[in-house]
Amino acid sequence: MPWPNVADDVVFTMIDREVERQNTALQLIASENFASPAVMRATGSVFTNKYSEGYPGRRYYGGNQVVDQVESLAIERVKALFGAEHANVQPHAGANANMAVYQALLEPGDTVLGLSLDHGGHLTHGSPVNASGMTYRFVGYRVTGSDERIDLDQVRELALANRPKLIVAGATAYPRIIDPAPFRAIADEVGALLMFDAAHIAGLIAGGAHPNPVGIADIVTFTTHKTLRGPRGGCIVSRADLGPAIDKAVFPGQQGGPQEHAIAAKAVAFSEAASSEFGEYAAQIVRNAAALAESLATEGFRLVTGGTDNHLLLVDLRPFDGELTGKEAQTVLDAAGITLNRNAIPDDPRSPFVTSGVRLGTPAVTTQGMKEDEMVVIGQLIARTLRHRTDEAEVAAVRETVRELCGPFAPY
Ligand SMILES: Cc1ncc(COP(=O)(O)O)c(C=O)c1O
Repeated sequence: MPWPNVADDVVFTMIDREVERQNTALQLIASENFASPAVMRATGSVFTNKYSEGYPGRRYYGGNQVVDQVESLAIERVKALFGAEHANVQPHAGANANMAVYQALLEPGDTVLGLSLDHGGHLTHGSPVNASGMTYRFVGYRVTGSDERIDLDQVRELALANRPKLIVAGATAYPRIIDPAPFRAIADEVGALLMFDAAHIAGLIAGGAHPNPVGIADIVTFTTHKTLRGPRGGCIVSRADLGPAIDKAVFPGQQGGPQEHAIAAKAVAFSEAASSEFGEYAAQIVRNAAALAESLATEGFRLVTGGTDNHLLLVDLRPFDGELTGKEAQTVLDAAGITLNRNAIPDDPRSPFVTSGVRLGTPAVTTQGMKEDEMVVIGQLIARTLRHRTDEAEVAAVRETVRELCGPFAPY
């Protein structure tokens, strides 16, 4: 098919500039990755043209013969990947997946336990500015003051005191393994359902680097674009008996027409994630995060929980420099070609907009082939940039070093 010449179109110029940015700077946002060319091709495919409200074999529109096949394939692949009884691959994003689960299982006003936002939970785990917090009565559990790990004693106490209908495990900024088993035991003790939000770690689970909550939790939600390295999107896997309620909550409950181009790309990603190479990738993500943590600790930063055993690090900047905020660190590091995000640390005295910490992760740099040696250098470059943050020439010099470091590893 003859594609139009779009070389001088302003949008395509922007796309070229973004390719350049992704190729020449370090992408250390813990929730980002580089999708494969096959995932990108499916995302940009003609499935984007199709309306297919409903589910395979039960559509409200004609012409869905091939769409039915691709969505069924995605469902079968993801069920096999995680060992799940039921899957819904239609959620447009992780947030939609979570809201659909709540709608399927809860009535407005029902009580839910989730990790507090300021201790690593996600907006959809009951933030007052999110529909989850506006619709349901969320009670937040926290990490301990001593080792900064999830306080399972508190989870149990809050569960016994509040008798939640649902307990949510999972986090957006927590650097340790979350074992689903103790959550299951607490949920059983109080007669609650258990949802595990694996948005961040789905790829680590698929690759065998983290315990699989499927079969332990009643429902597992996740995003397909983080460690799983697929297209932007969400997914829900669950026990078979919860399937009809979940499907009804996704459509027509929360969404209209599914994005079949994204679903086709999810099918591609699920197949990629089932490969032995992906298992090696997941293990390398974890090794890289540990190496980066050690490098940063050597430079004088404090790692929340003392380190990491997943793909992300939460860094307390205060021991490095008491004046340095997460906001300032994010800005100056971006100028140096090192992209990460500011993040509150547990009990942060600064506001969530300013913060005393940053969050960084290794999924993207691992995809582009970097290993422990590069992680050591990245830790040093972060420290150098932040030590000399008012020196424009030094920041520019780091930017050049980053460009050179990225050269042999360009993802696109
Ligand atoms: C734990 C968790 N749940 C849900 C989401 C929401 O995903 P999305 O941004 O695709 O809506 C995120 C995103 O960061 C997350 O970290």
